[in-house]
Amino acid sequence: MEEDVVEIPGEVTQRLRVAEMVAVMTGAGVSAESGVPTFRGDGGLWKNQRPEQLATPQAFEKDPDLVWEWYHWRRGLIRESSPNAAHHSLVQIERNTPQFTLITQNVDGLHLTAGSKTVLEIHGNINRARCSSCSHRVPLSDETGVLTCGQCGALMRPDVVWFGESLDHGTLEASHSASGSADFFLVAGTSSVVQPAASLAYAAKEKGGYVLEVNLDPTPLTGTADVTLLGKAGEVLTALVEKTWDG
Ligand code: OAD
Repeated sequence: MEEDVVEIPGEVTQRLRVAEMVAVMTGAGVSAESGVPTFRGDGGLWKNQRPEQLATPQAFEKDPDLVWEWYHWRRGLIRESSPNAAHHSLVQIERNTPQFTLITQNVDGLHLTAGSKTVLEIHGNINRARCSSCSHRVPLSDETGVLTCGQCGALMRPDVVWFGESLDHGTLEASHSASGSADFFLVAGTSSVVQPAASLAYAAKEKGGYVLEVNLDPTPLTGTADVTLLGKAGEVLTALVEKTWDG
C-alpha cells in the first residue's frame, strides 16, 4: 500500500466529519495545478505588467485594447485547462456536508465545471463580458480584440471585479453569512492579502469556526488559522477527503 504524501491531523478530519456547515474560500493556487497562472509569484507577470497594473478601471480607460488582450490571453489558457484534484475534492466535500458554500476569488469557472453546486464567484467570471454603460452581459467563447455592446454600442468589459471596485453587494452578503455560520472554514490556495476576501476567514474564526488553511507556503493568515497544511492543494485536499470519509 502506498504511503500518504500528506499527513492530515486527526483533529482536522474529526472537525470536518462532524461539521454542519462548511464554507470554503479558494484562490488562484487551487487552479495552479490546472495550468492557470497565479497572480503573485512566478508566472504572475504578463508582458512585464503586474495584475495590479492591468486589472483596474483606470488601465481599461487608458488602454482597452491592452486590457482585453490580457483577458483574451488568460481566457485562452483557461479554455485549454480542466479541473484538477483540488476542484474535484471540493465537490466531494460538498456532497458529504449538510450545508456547504464555496466562495471563490477565481474567475476561471473551474469549480462550476468540476460540479460544485453552491459557488459564490466574488470576483466575477472571465468567461462573460459586461457592457460598461448598460450592464448587458454576454457569454464569451473565442472572441478577440475590443468588444462592443450589441444593445447600446458602448464598450464591453470583462465581467470581473477590478482593483478599486466594490464586490457585488448580494454576493458579498451571502459570503459573510456563510463564513459567519461555518463551523469549518477551509481556505485554499490564496495569498490572503486581497480584501475583502481575506477578511472572511478571520470573521469565521471570530464566530467560533475552525479554520484550516492549505497553501504551498505560509501566508498572513497562518498565525490565525487553527491548522495550516503546506503542500499542493490537489494533493492535500485529496488526502483530506480520503482520511475524513474513507478511512
Ligand atoms: P495569488 O496569486 O495572490 O496567490 C496564490 C496563492 O496560492 C499563493 O499563496 C501561493 O503560495 C498559493 N499556491 C500556488 N500554487 C499552489 C498549489 N498548487 N497549491 C496550493 N497553493 C498554491 O492569488 P489569490 O490569492 O487568488 O483579484 O489572489 C487574490 C486576488 O488578487 C485575485 O482574485 C485577483 C488578484 O489580483 C482580482 O482580479 C480582483
